Amino acid sequence: MAPASGRRSRVHIALARENEEPSMPEEKTQGAGTATAEAPGENTVQVTFLPEGKTVTFENGKLPYEDHGKEQSILDVALNFGIPLDHACGGNCACTTCHVWIKDGAENLSEMDDDEADRLDMAADLQLNSRLGCQAQITKPGKVVVEIPAWNRNYVSEEQH
Ligand code: FES
Repeated sequence: MAPASGRRSRVHIALARENEEPSMPEEKTQGAGTATAEAPGENTVQVTFLPEGKTVTFENGKLPYEDHGKEQSILDVALNFGIPLDHACGGNCACTTCHVWIKDGAENLSEMDDDEADRLDMAADLQLNSRLGCQAQITKPGKVVVEIPAWNRNYVSEEQH
């Protein structure tokens, strides 16, 4: 049997475990394109979707879950706030259409498991910061910046008239 760890290591992101509570007061950001200008509150998650620069905030653990991949996944967040993100398999780690790049805040996400890594190996435009939107869960308060790849944006533009 040949080890498969070399293949998986390309997409694994080393997630640093840090203290969970930022010491900033509660504060909410409204509007687009200002994701990094203000700090989120103590239990606030702030997610910015690029390239649109749309920022959404919510209280960690309080997002309504509507079966959009794993609970509080990037896909779950996007669809809760009306941000289109393709998810052809329904968030079951069986396609790569929810592929996104994590530009900032990877330490606030769940670690990638083997199923996600195996699936990502089939994705176009694979980068070291690639994740599947339906599998990458936001696990603690803080900021996350996500870029939706161009081919997914093309899909979005076809969906929205
Ligand atoms: Fe298919 Fe995420 S929606 S893998």
